[in-house]
Amino acid sequence: MAIKSIADLDLFNKRVFCRFDFNVPLDGNGAIKDDTRIVRALPTIRYAIEKGARLILCSHLGRPKGTVKPELSLKPVAARLSQLLGQNVSFVSDCVGPEVLLVVNNLHSGEMVLLENVRFHSEETKNDPNFSAQLAELADVYINDAFGTAHRAHCSTVGIAELLKEKGAGLLMKEELENLEKAFANPRKPVVGIIGGAKVSDKISVLKNILTKMDMVLIGGGMANTFLKAEGLEVGISLVENDMIAIAKEIMEIASARKCDFCLPKDVIVALGMDNGVESKVTSVDKIGLKEMALDIGPVTTREFSGRIQKAGTIIWNGPMGVFEQAAFKKGTMEIAKAVAASKAFSVVGGGDSVRAVIQAGVSEKISYISTGGGAFMEFLEGKALPGVVALES
Ligand code: 3PG
Repeated sequence: MAIKSIADLDLFNKRVFCRFDFNVPLDGNGAIKDDTRIVRALPTIRYAIEKGARLILCSHLGRPKGTVKPELSLKPVAARLSQLLGQNVSFVSDCVGPEVLLVVNNLHSGEMVLLENVRFHSEETKNDPNFSAQLAELADVYINDAFGTAHRAHCSTVGIAELLKEKGAGLLMKEELENLEKAFANPRKPVVGIIGGAKVSDKISVLKNILTKMDMVLIGGGMANTFLKAEGLEVGISLVENDMIAIAKEIMEIASARKCDFCLPKDVIVALGMDNGVESKVTSVDKIGLKEMALDIGPVTTREFSGRIQKAGTIIWNGPMGVFEQAAFKKGTMEIAKAVAASKAFSVVGGGDSVRAVIQAGVSEKISYISTGGGAFMEFLEGKALPGVVALES
């Protein structure tokens, strides 16, 4: 069903409730460590202000579980927004109630207020109808620009959307959905999935779903060990999920039945442990020693994966190829990031670690699209409908 865009709605002098994902990492002193999600929200905020909205900004931060946790206050976000926009973003210390209603009703066209962390109320994550009604009371128009939270059926993402007739997607939400559609609905072939990360158990549903859509899947990271073991190889003391071996076999059988080329590493970087400064070496996957652990893909695998990436029409990447946080085990992930950036394919990268990896490799500008979604990106890859998106359908 059709989803309206913010650009389809009349915002002038309306109280516009806009749900963002300002769930940004903070250091212990309330300083924002990475403001990407705030920066990516700016086009929608600027657009709404330009159109004369009386703008109400709402978000969660962390998981306070219904209690007021000062260290999870959105106040630092209001300050950062004011800096970035060059305009005062006022802040109100709750998100519902008579005082908030008064502040919102006193907003003039072109002014905005950021509400306090919506998850300070336990009702939010329960999609409680009364709390949704209190949020809806604040507004005439509902906009959801929080793709990163679209997999949550909460009051501020679903309940309120069901109560307000005038609703639509913000510019970031639209951009996310259009780019993911482009990669999935009618992709340029061949479609290559790069899936890494520590555990098969985290990615079973993703793998099962993408095997039906992709021509090739390149597997790296800790999860590759479980697949190698399922193939009958010994992987020493590498991270392995023994209870996932049967599922790993099943996934490889599905891939083969679907003629999806399922590529495992041929060589890996091994060490006796993960400590910084530990000695490491390249080993073929059939020669991993009993006391060794695989911590990155090796040079032969990196070359082979890069060659396949060069020939891709579309690339979807989620999960690093190794323990890239450590210098000795980052090369595989960095080289794959560079290969994706150098490819002419339409490339989409999502998930915190993979996004950090492309930034660390200095190639983020050359990726076609970087998603702001972590869990939401994963659930999209799993083929699930995102409740926050469904709620916008009219
Ligand atoms: C995220 O960072 O993935 C989103 O902000 C959602 O956060 P949550 O997992 O706490 O719902």
